[in-house]
Amino acid sequence: MLSNLLFVVFAVTGAVFANNNGVGLKPPMGWDMWCTNGRCERDYCDAKEVMDVTDAMVTNGMKDAGYEYVIISDCWADHRDENGNIVPDKDRFPDGLVPVIQHINSKGFKAGLYTDAGMYTCSPGGRNHTIPGSYGHYEQDANAYASWGVEYVKVDWCSTKVNGTQLDPHKQYQEMSEALNKTGKPIFLNSCEWGIDKPWEWMHQYANSWRTGPDHHDDWKTTSKIIELNADLGDYAGVGKGWNDPDFIMTGGQSCNTVDSSHCPGMTDTEYRTEFTLWCLMSAPLLVVTDVRNMTSIMKEVLLNKDLIEINQDTTGPGGKRIGFDKTCGENVCQIWAKNITNGEKAIALYNADSVSHNITLEFSLLGWKMVNIRNLWDGTKYYNFTESVTVVVESHGVQAYRASAVQ
Ligand SMILES: *[C@@H]1O[C@H](CO)[C@@H](O)[C@H](O)[C@H]1NC(C)=O
Ligand SMILES: *[C@@H]1O[C@H](CO)[C@@H](O)[C@H](O)[C@H]1NC(C)=O
Ligand SMILES: *[C@@H]1O[C@H](CO)[C@@H](O)[C@H](O)[C@H]1NC(C)=O
Ligand SMILES: *[C@@H]1O[C@H](CO)[C@@H](O)[C@H](O)[C@H]1NC(C)=O
Ligand SMILES: *[C@@H]1O[C@H](CO)[C@@H](O)[C@H](O)[C@H]1NC(C)=O
Ligand SMILES: *[C@@H]1O[C@H](CO)[C@@H](O)[C@H](O)[C@H]1NC(C)=O
Ligand SMILES: *[C@@H]1O[C@H](CO)[C@@H](O)[C@H](O)[C@H]1NC(C)=O
Repeated sequence: MLSNLLFVVFAVTGAVFANNNGVGLKPPMGWDMWCTNGRCERDYCDAKEVMDVTDAMVTNGMKDAGYEYVIISDCWADHRDENGNIVPDKDRFPDGLVPVIQHINSKGFKAGLYTDAGMYTCSPGGRNHTIPGSYGHYEQDANAYASWGVEYVKVDWCSTKVNGTQLDPHKQYQEMSEALNKTGKPIFLNSCEWGIDKPWEWMHQYANSWRTGPDHHDDWKTTSKIIELNADLGDYAGVGKGWNDPDFIMTGGQSCNTVDSSHCPGMTDTEYRTEFTLWCLMSAPLLVVTDVRNMTSIMKEVLLNKDLIEINQDTTGPGGKRIGFDKTCGENVCQIWAKNITNGEKAIALYNADSVSHNITLEFSLLGWKMVNIRNLWDGTKYYNFTESVTVVVESHGVQAYRASAVQ
């Protein structure tokens, strides 16, 4: 009896579900300034950059393609005033954040901000002093964000050892979730404790999306590692839950240094296509961190691929996942990924993790089908009435991606 009672009490106090905030019904799409002005983690953002990118996202086709959020990362805050209010960096945002957010809204986008659950943010962004995190100020900060018109908050996990004691992410993210909820404004919450505490199993109570692993960088090493980390997590994502966040999209390459906005690609075009394809199948947030004011041809081809974006935004079923291998290539090399989508169709990706090309065979029995119609999501070619299986060459680190339906 007592244990039943306790269970009820816990159930009630734990009942602030972030996914009751009415947002995040699809994986969020947008831009975050993380690798735009300067290399990733060495960014230097300012009001002009954010407004210029916002304008560019209208003219470069990103807005029409569905990108919705403009997110100001770890670079905007400076210090707390004597009342504990968080104060934006005066050099970077001379008039504060409100005019920038109004500009973002005026172009039809929603604004996002970065904060940290602990004492200090992860990166001082080229400054000589630490930047305060939200610890001890969750409600105060949530109220400030809400009053400025912020509709998305990323909550990082640096400096979470306070006075020698490691904070508990369950408790901290719940408190931040409640603080955002109390503002009365629906605000998307993205948690970022790097997958340490298996957030896919519980974070949906508090957040709309959760980072599932370490930082993604503009290199194949982290991209391939993150693909492996997320291969089995698809069922945790979906409407009424939230979204596994494998981290940012690096397509086109990070900025070369801290002053110019040209691109220094750390991956091949093939690898960028693989990144985007698998992020789309996973129903991952599509948050681009490269300089979209100056899109290279691979950026246009990848970031504006409407067919793949449609797969990403399809919420008929849970997120996609790895469903099998073509074992003739060796262990864990030729991978078959799938996501259930509308009208009983499936998105399929044949992914070659190896450093040499392979023929990959997909047996349709793996899909529970005998005969299929398929359309290639990168070149648009269609094949009708395929029976039993299909075999295609997939280059090293590449994918072939399809939309497939059963022929009855
Ligand atoms: C706050 O949480 C309650 C309970 O889950 C929910 O009904 C409400 O819509 C939430 N409000 C906001 C603004 O997120
Ligand atoms: C940081 O400190 C160094 C040494 O005191 C100084 O030379 C530099 O200008 C400072 N940088 C900033 C961004 O304040
Ligand atoms: C750390 O401990 C000291 C001494 O008890 C206390 O004054 C201070 O507020 C604590 N800091 C935090 C962030 O809790
Ligand atoms: C745009 O990108 C190209 C290719 O990455 C680079 O050569 C050029 O300098 C960039 N232009 C600007 C204005 O940043
Ligand atoms: C798709 O749905 C079918 C039927 O519910 C299920 O057996 C299969 O595992 C699902 N596939 C994926 C990739 O979720
Ligand atoms: C794929 O299969 C074809 C036909 O058997 C063969 O000619 C080709 O060399 C194979 N390619 C690779 C990369 O294995
Ligand atoms: C595919 O097969 C069906 C019968 O199963 C047939 O009606 C249809 O015409 C075929 N489509 C093509 C493009 O061959």
